[in-house]
Amino acid sequence: MTIYFDHNATTPLHPGVLEAMMPWLTEGYANPSSLHRSGRGARAAVEAARGQVANLVGAHPSQVIFTGGGTEADNLALAGVAAAARHPSRMIISPIEHPAIVDTADALAAAGWQIETVAVDDQGRVLCDDLAARLAERPCALVSIMAANNETGVIQDMETISRCCRQAGVPLHTDAVQAIGKHGFDFAASGAACASVSAHKIQGPKGVGALIVDRHLPIDAIVHGGGHEQGLRSGTLNVAGIVGFGAAAARLGEHRDQEIAHMRTLRDQLETGLDAMPGITRFSPHAERLANTCQFAVAGYDGEGLLMLLDHDDIAVSSGSACAAGTGEPSPVLLAMGVEPDVARGAIRVSLGPGNTLAEVQRFLLVLGRLAGGTGGLPGGISASVLTG
Ligand SMILES: Cc1ncc(COP(=O)(O)O)c(C=O)c1O
Repeated sequence: MTIYFDHNATTPLHPGVLEAMMPWLTEGYANPSSLHRSGRGARAAVEAARGQVANLVGAHPSQVIFTGGGTEADNLALAGVAAAARHPSRMIISPIEHPAIVDTADALAAAGWQIETVAVDDQGRVLCDDLAARLAERPCALVSIMAANNETGVIQDMETISRCCRQAGVPLHTDAVQAIGKHGFDFAASGAACASVSAHKIQGPKGVGALIVDRHLPIDAIVHGGGHEQGLRSGTLNVAGIVGFGAAAARLGEHRDQEIAHMRTLRDQLETGLDAMPGITRFSPHAERLANTCQFAVAGYDGEGLLMLLDHDDIAVSSGSACAAGTGEPSPVLLAMGVEPDVARGAIRVSLGPGNTLAEVQRFLLVLGRLAGGTGGLPGGISASVLTG
């Protein structure tokens, strides 16, 4: 059986979520915009799910704009605020953002926007003094800083960040895709003007997410059409996906505290084991991190090579962000933290889920210890060329 340690990339669909979705994939096929009885039934299911998502993230249901996932929510936040601004001006992001933010910011830069990057420390924490200084300099249309990082798991001090933004009168967007399941996120308390979330990171279906929006925020649609979702995201609603998102949110709300405690126990065991091994560099060890995430490098190994060796032992991990996988490039997140490129290239990310067990962590440590200590040799059929040194 595969040991699945890649929950920051995606999570298994919870059986209860699938059950909730099934009627809307079969007989409940009506368009929720249709006025007939079947359409009204689908609409009621969507609105119930909206309430469940709103409840999980401490928002009002009217603030939940369903999208086709976290990436689209991030795009809507930045490009939507840009679309509402009369002229290109300035946005501030952090260097540890997900590509959904970084690449959208790049596209805006190509359209004349000034994009600035706030500094982070060697643990990957945003330097709030730098943010405050940048905000004091010139007007700014939006700040976008993620609540928790997908690679290192580092949790940002959203209270201070949002206070900074509020004092400068600048709206804040936060990518809370990783935070909601493994830390918690409360939109009202966060002080953010908009926040991105995604269903498949919390045992819901892929291809559905939401931008939580304070409707005082000037923001325009980036997907135009029939005016769905208060005009902010046109397109026939993905009823089954949205119902699944709602069910996943409701389930998480009930179990999150126990699940976080369980994952933290396993993660601490994992890190105790790693710290006893030679040649391991753990990233962001001094920062507050998601309870399930541990990123590290093994001396002499290239991350993707080590990933394949672990895969050979039926252990699924990531070498960083799933979105950057296969590029062979060191993680920009680690580089922004000042990690040397050669060390960053060795990064492996373990992201645990509520279904993982201590036995799995122990087996992982055994396999890794054999590889890191070099005593067990390479598994058959794996070439030594995956080693860097
Ligand atoms: C922090 C973060 N933001 C955004 C996304 C994109 O979400 P989705 O896969 O739903 O498009 C991810 C997924 O990897 C993520 O980790």
